Amino acid sequence: MAEKNKGGRAEFSSKFGVIAAAAGSAVGLGNIWKFPYITGVYGGAAFLFVYLGFILAIGLPVMLSELIIGRRSRRNAFGAFKKLAPKSMWRYVGIMGVGAAFMILAFYGVVAGWSVEYVVLSVLNGFKSQSPEQLNEMFAQFIAAPFRPVIYQLVFMFLTGLIVMVGIKNGIEKNVKILMPLLVVIILVLDVRAVTLPGAGEGLRFLFHPDFSKLTGEGILSALGHAFFSLSLGMGTLITYGSYIDKENNLINTAINVTVADTMIAILAGVAIFPAVFAFGIEAGSGPGLVFITLPTVFEQMPGGYVFSILFFVLLTVAALTSSISILEVVVAYFHEELKLKRKIATVFATVIIALLGVICSLSMGIFEDYTFFDLNFFDLLDWISANLLLPLGGLFISLFVGWKLGRKRVREEIEKGGSISALFLSVFIFLVRFIAPFAIAIVFLKGIGLLNI
Ligand code: PFF
Repeated sequence: MAEKNKGGRAEFSSKFGVIAAAAGSAVGLGNIWKFPYITGVYGGAAFLFVYLGFILAIGLPVMLSELIIGRRSRRNAFGAFKKLAPKSMWRYVGIMGVGAAFMILAFYGVVAGWSVEYVVLSVLNGFKSQSPEQLNEMFAQFIAAPFRPVIYQLVFMFLTGLIVMVGIKNGIEKNVKILMPLLVVIILVLDVRAVTLPGAGEGLRFLFHPDFSKLTGEGILSALGHAFFSLSLGMGTLITYGSYIDKENNLINTAINVTVADTMIAILAGVAIFPAVFAFGIEAGSGPGLVFITLPTVFEQMPGGYVFSILFFVLLTVAALTSSISILEVVVAYFHEELKLKRKIATVFATVIIALLGVICSLSMGIFEDYTFFDLNFFDLLDWISANLLLPLGGLFISLFVGWKLGRKRVREEIEKGGSISALFLSVFIFLVRFIAPFAIAIVFLKGIGLLNI
């Protein structure tokens, strides 16, 4: 994955490499596809504000916790707990993370496949002269089809497997440096186009003017789940990446940089989408197709739309790729270090199983749509279980682990490797991970699944 350190374990090659990889993991479909659509479903600004609160009070401390566990142990998500707390039950937190990685990547690969399809459509000028209704219809037909989305998902999973196998330093680490800033530029251009559309104000009001009476328990749980999903937390991705971080790195700076980048891109994506949603009369709560319907409508209406649509969907695919490799890496590092499979074999094995699960996810939008569990198709079920159950629970245990088990001394040592910190900072952090994060997660979680009625 990267250069080896003296102990023979892979390491990222530079400070920038660390941030690029971790931000590459965080910034992905979660920011550009999922954030706008769930914000639409759960009523707009109130959801956004709750989400931001969770990012700050829970996301940031849990991210720092994962990096601490990873670098301290220099192991995969499961091995890390085994090493830091031998012969204890903590290792099951790691197993849960590996399970979550399977589920997330299965449906993630499907959406990334849609994005690849939209690259092709953009090149073929497929959005030309299409009304929002027609684009909506086109999307609905495409995702329900039996072959095309499956093929694109398989292509995407193949690419993911290939990069993880080759190692990310020469492939992704070099390229994200150029591609991520380019993604920001494209989104900014789309933002300018969106906010200058007639009627844009209504979209901005929807996104930034909260009406808390619209919030439901389920909305709050989804905001929490999405905070974890978007920051790549709760399943050991940043434990795994943290295990490749060198000892000079300042983990606090890394965590802050990644969190800010991730949050900014989500908000910029929202600003690109909601004004257009209202300007073109698209339903804000229309679900997973929101980006795939709204943005082509915008491209249709703007000068240079042809080029922008190609660039946008290429970059969306790249953003998805830098996230999917981090998810696959969780499973591969586990198979390789714990089950002692060769890295290459571990990668093929994990990629194939996940790709097959992904095929079922894709088909659950069409020919398997009648097979539902709790009223959810297979795709939505995996999304719901992983984001709303496994990631928050993982986050709960990770913060408890750092707060109670690892202890102040080891935490301090690990954070101070990159520079000294004040006693006050340390106390605040320990307080957050000991009490605030676990308590808040537990309450939101119990309320969200209906076990608590407040
Ligand atoms: N954070 C990624 C996104 O927002 O698209 C998705 C993701 C990556 C979730 C890694 C979980 C994870 F461990």
